[in-house]
Amino acid sequence: MSTHRTVVFNWKMHPPEVGKAKELFLDIRKAAARRPRVETVVAAPFPYLAELRKLTTGKHTKLGAQDAFWERAGAYTGEVSASMLASVGVSHVIVGHSERRALGETNDMVSRKVAATTRAGLVAVVCVGESERDPHGRYLADVEAQVRAACAGVRTPKRLIIAYEPVWAISAGDGNGTTASPEDVHEMGIFIRRILSDIYARRTAEQVRILYGGSVNETNAHQLLSDGMVDGFLVGGASLKPSAAAAILSAAHGSRT
Ligand code: PGA
Repeated sequence: MSTHRTVVFNWKMHPPEVGKAKELFLDIRKAAARRPRVETVVAAPFPYLAELRKLTTGKHTKLGAQDAFWERAGAYTGEVSASMLASVGVSHVIVGHSERRALGETNDMVSRKVAATTRAGLVAVVCVGESERDPHGRYLADVEAQVRAACAGVRTPKRLIIAYEPVWAISAGDGNGTTASPEDVHEMGIFIRRILSDIYARRTAEQVRILYGGSVNETNAHQLLSDGMVDGFLVGGASLKPSAAAAILSAAHGSRT
């Protein structure tokens, strides 16, 4: 387990224009500067990244993107490569979010995107998680396949973060859906780490940060961290509300041994 926590704010397709994006970024940057033990990442829509880069002056707020294509350049209309993202100051890329998987992204595509992202020197925040839980625990096989695909093209997981996001727990946009219980989150964290230890040397596998995402907000963040034992969060809806984002960072800043 690493010594500091990571909070990735996933703005999804928000806010509606660049001026609002800058305002929100500055609010989050201010809160992040007060919580220096937290690695704070804002994953913004592509068109805002170059502008937001100008605001990433403090070392506490990093810039993230929400996807990256696996090719470096070429005739791929609409796609954006990891090296392009690196050139505008992006350090983290969310890969394989369930909302992208719902649009047709497969484990194989996720695998190629993760490999391209880490090869470009960026950190891949790979989302894994079951659509539903069946009583026989078959969902575990789905999560395992997703984790293995995420790791398939990555020789050492130095630039890999796994975000466990059960699809049923992701909110409709307000951060107030059904959160997974801290016990379930803890159990899944152990399960994922065991898979990582099977793929990589145990010491390296232990360094991989495992985040939780799915309706994280200012009221549940504390308990999810203490009882869920995760290394941080991937936050959607609540990341659009400065006070909620600040409260989540404050919970993540709390003591860690
Ligand atoms: P949520 O979204 O916090 O609104 O549930 C999380 C995510 O989809 O990354």
